Amino acid sequence: MLARQVTSSIMKSFVLSITLLNFISQPFGIVFGLENGLAKTPPMGWLAWARFTCELDCDKYPDTCISSQLFTSMADQMVKLNMPQFGYTYVNIDDCWSEKERDPKTQALVPNATRFPNGGVSAVAEYVHSLGLKLGIYGDCGDLTCAGYPAQLKPNSSEDYFELDANTMKEWEIDSFKLDGCFIDPPVAEKRCPAFSTALLKTKRPIMLTCEWPFYMMYSGDEINWSVAADSCNLWRYYDDIEDSWSSIINTIDYTVKNQHIFVKYHGPGHWFDPDQLVIGNFGLSESEEEAQMALWSIWAAPLYMSNDLRSISESSLAILQNRNLIAVNQDKLGVLGLMTGEIKDKNHYQAFVKPVLPLDTSKCPSFAIVYLNRNSLGDSKVVSFKLRNILLGSKDAIEQAQKHAKKQQEYEFDANKCIEALKQENKSYKVYDLLASTETAQDLKMDTNLNDNLDLVVNPSGIRAVKLLRVEA
Ligand code: GLA
Repeated sequence: MLARQVTSSIMKSFVLSITLLNFISQPFGIVFGLENGLAKTPPMGWLAWARFTCELDCDKYPDTCISSQLFTSMADQMVKLNMPQFGYTYVNIDDCWSEKERDPKTQALVPNATRFPNGGVSAVAEYVHSLGLKLGIYGDCGDLTCAGYPAQLKPNSSEDYFELDANTMKEWEIDSFKLDGCFIDPPVAEKRCPAFSTALLKTKRPIMLTCEWPFYMMYSGDEINWSVAADSCNLWRYYDDIEDSWSSIINTIDYTVKNQHIFVKYHGPGHWFDPDQLVIGNFGLSESEEEAQMALWSIWAAPLYMSNDLRSISESSLAILQNRNLIAVNQDKLGVLGLMTGEIKDKNHYQAFVKPVLPLDTSKCPSFAIVYLNRNSLGDSKVVSFKLRNILLGSKDAIEQAQKHAKKQQEYEFDANKCIEALKQENKSYKVYDLLASTETAQDLKMDTNLNDNLDLVVNPSGIRAVKLLRVEA
């Protein structure tokens, strides 16, 4: 293993290291490692795509077309609604921001002059930074972006623009980059795209990287080496674009659950699977469904990028996005993927999801966040009931993973095997706190429960209940 460390004196906490982590038996041999010190907890912010897509007509839609004005006004609104205090700090531009051609002389990317006038993207970055927020932007590891704009590979050539574009991002003071995966052969992506993260690291500017090429590989049935994604991206998409509908949320849940025992091993501080944007505050979800998306994305420790119009969002949607208790579960330092550990499928359909979280109890074992999902889309609210011992034990892989993350962070230490044994044999009791309560802190439901008991919660159809279990200390 060969390692090269580049330390920037500008940012004390920001350590760049370019690590050749794996020699993999593939034609291109070497994979570059990414350890940029970013995204230690899942990133939170706003992203344009799901709500504003590629609207270019600023005459007809002056407030919602992809333009400087959209991003600066959304940044203003983030501040006005106190979103940074809840952790939402990134404002992300998606596709359709550039001209259709690169600069003929320098080959650099050029922001669309009509929609990004007066200083282009770098002026937007300056404004967003002046509000204490961060700016993200979009590109693609093919020769065109998904919407047909210039991307990071040179068309009809084996060369790329990785270094040139990474330097442009540094010059514009970009904080985050989404590297899509259209217009590149998926198996080739795994070999070529990691070099873009190396180019970003070389700029010595801390730029968080979201990759989308793993999704296209999965989509086309190619076998993925997830450690390549984890070594070269801070986040990566693994499933279809989210849409503003409950069926889209359900499909994302099912796909995640199907792969959860693989994902849990690679998901963690600095490297997250990304189920795509939160569509809370748009047109397609009921209040219960919005709560469900927020709770599941939180229990998965998924990036929380909302895509909505914060200038006209309803109070109830905003309250869901600002639920401190769920956000705390999302941002929990153990940083594990919560797992679906219980399912009832008779005439009803219910699922239980469990995530080990801090604090550790006096025997140095984690607490738990639990989400019950009622998948019925007909009928009244129902009592959903799972045997506590079973659903907690079902999170064994997540507990083991939590131990690894805790060890790496050197802040919390625990013995996963001991904790799993204790769940099998002991009769621990827990206090149950309601994470949906509109109070500042989770509300004690005064229904202490024991590992031998069933945990019963009333759940709306197409809705969830979310609770946290803290051990009752003897
Ligand atoms: C793909 C991505 C979306 C969005 C669009 C832009 O579909 O999955 O998230 O970035 O491209 O064209």
